[in-house]
Amino acid sequence: MKLPFIKSARALRGKRVLVRVDLNVPLGDNRCVDTDEDWRMRAILPTLAFLHSKGARIILMSHLGRPTRKNEADSLQPVAVYFRNVLKVPVHFVPDCVGTRVEHAIADLKNGEMLLLENLRFHKGEDSNDEQFAASLAQLGDVYVNDAFAVCHRSVASVVGITRFLPSYAGLLLMNEIEHLNRVRLTPKKPLVIVVGGAKTETKLPFIEALLEKSSQVLLGGALANTALHCFGYELGKGDCVPCGVALKKVFHSKKIVLPRDVVVGKKDGSNARVVAITRQQKQLVRRGEYAHDVGPATLRLYAAYIKKAKTIFWNGALGVFEVPAYATGTLSLARLIATHARGKAFGVIGGGETVQALRRTKMEQYVDHVSTGGGALLEYLSGAALPGLEALSHKRT
Ligand code: 3PG
Repeated sequence: MKLPFIKSARALRGKRVLVRVDLNVPLGDNRCVDTDEDWRMRAILPTLAFLHSKGARIILMSHLGRPTRKNEADSLQPVAVYFRNVLKVPVHFVPDCVGTRVEHAIADLKNGEMLLLENLRFHKGEDSNDEQFAASLAQLGDVYVNDAFAVCHRSVASVVGITRFLPSYAGLLLMNEIEHLNRVRLTPKKPLVIVVGGAKTETKLPFIEALLEKSSQVLLGGALANTALHCFGYELGKGDCVPCGVALKKVFHSKKIVLPRDVVVGKKDGSNARVVAITRQQKQLVRRGEYAHDVGPATLRLYAAYIKKAKTIFWNGALGVFEVPAYATGTLSLARLIATHARGKAFGVIGGGETVQALRRTKMEQYVDHVSTGGGALLEYLSGAALPGLEALSHKRT
């Protein structure tokens, strides 16, 4: 798929460039962007620097959270403050994303300056990909740039509808994502080892099914591994396992699926934490009020052996509840393991909010070939799905 790249656009000086970005970052209680967790925002800086250097008037649009109506907690205003501090250039903010007030703010915008619009999801037309809403957004700019890979799986007005009205391009972040992810999606060097953990079992299963043929091994952790163990009759306590159907059992029976050899069980707060081996003889793994919260050392040794042989590695989802120190070893060890084998021995890609968070905790982020900004979009793209945001751009004549 060939995407029109913003670097090929001519004469951007003075043009109003509408840039769809993904600023969907958790804001703390004090409504500030946590600069330890601002990696998603830093990822758009190359596009902003490029447009700034071309003298464009930059209009940023994003969603934040999943609001059903306008409310202060989901306002993007703190993000404008963040960009002002990081970029040291004027970044203005306007408390809406369409309408006269926005038009006036854009008219006042000087070349190279930036304006952040209020949360797009305060308008229903965004999520319903309403044509009228898309047209209202489009009339704010001369050129459209999609630099929000993480939202490309959503058929929304600011990602899909808007491309019908404006010359449309992919930004630097989006191009970089596609270039790196295609090395996993299209031409992975074998062995391709995939590690999948975390919660949201129902979104991860279709991903595993789609990648099973291509991959050499799929190593499981987190709720997904617990679901698989549960399917094989192990008792792990009350957790977020999904019910085991025939289809699920078939996936877990694949020879490529690798399950934990041991788990760390205990109470939610980390008390009573201990390693329990997975054996055929003992199906009851926990006591009352306990659950399996991490993988154990035998599992890590097994997973390390596969990772060491891999030529391509993809990881999404924590192996355990790494926020609790007693259950952090599996996830953090895996992050270090992948980081030491990526960039050379293997091509390593990781993605997903909590996965990136875990990698950042090891301070080894720079040793991984690609850290994706995508969550759901990443899994869908690697599954081979056509993402509406990319389709809309690729069909576009600039
Ligand atoms: C994400 O956080 O993955 C993107 O911003 C998409 O958010 P959504 O799942 O709320 O559409």
